[in-house]
Amino acid sequence: MQHKGTRTLETERLLLRRWRIEDAQEAFQNWMNDPEVTKYLTWKPHGEIAVTRLLLEAWAEEAEQENCYHWAIVLRETGELIGDISVMHANDFQETGSVGYCMGRRWWGRGYMTEAFREVLRYCFEEVGFYRVSGSHAAGNIGSSRVMEKCGLKKEGVRRSAFRLLLSGERVDIVDRGILREEYRG
Ligand SMILES: CC(C)(COP(=O)(O)OP(=O)(O)OC[C@H]1O[C@@H](n2cnc3c(N)ncnc32)[C@H](O)[C@@H]1OP(=O)(O)O)[C@@H](O)C(=O)NCCC(=O)NCCS
Repeated sequence: MQHKGTRTLETERLLLRRWRIEDAQEAFQNWMNDPEVTKYLTWKPHGEIAVTRLLLEAWAEEAEQENCYHWAIVLRETGELIGDISVMHANDFQETGSVGYCMGRRWWGRGYMTEAFREVLRYCFEEVGFYRVSGSHAAGNIGSSRVMEKCGLKKEGVRRSAFRLLLSGERVDIVDRGILREEYRG
């Protein structure tokens, strides 16, 4: 792999850029404090903006590393900060990483995350040289399942009752998916 870090990427409607500490207010307002957004996630709504600020300070530091792939998603037309996408655990020898993403509720269902993820996959496979990108989602998270499906991540298995939703305590199955370099090239 030829690490390139979080370079700015553009799609038809979106700008993917590095996180900045000054993003805290908008991120907090738009999704980081919304229990609907965090329903299936491994973190709870922030509750107060100080939590968001601390997180973004850590992210700004991480962004200096060449093997960090973590973008803020901005709507080009309005300049609004609408979401987050990252490829975590980039492993040099395995040439693997795993995707994670979320977005403000106001912008769901318009194809934005599929658009962002397709561009991230292009960057990972064509420019950085990943061999495999994986992703996991709760079985009931239909929106995330569709995003991964549309981006070509094949279903590889189901881990039964592998996760408890943080807010409700309900146990849910986790679906594992992945896409390989040769599949991406088709
Ligand atoms: C998951 C998420 C990122 C999807 O983003 P998005 O921009 O709305 O995704 P897209 O519009 O690209 O695609 C969503 C697809 O799921 C479908 N969908 C969403 N919710 C659905 C539901 N409850 N039932 C059926 N289909 C649903 C949409 O119709 C669309 O499919 P289509 O293109 O075939 O019409 C967004 O909902 C989100 O941020 N959720 C909260 C955080 C989260 O769960 N992150 C993922 C953790 S694994």
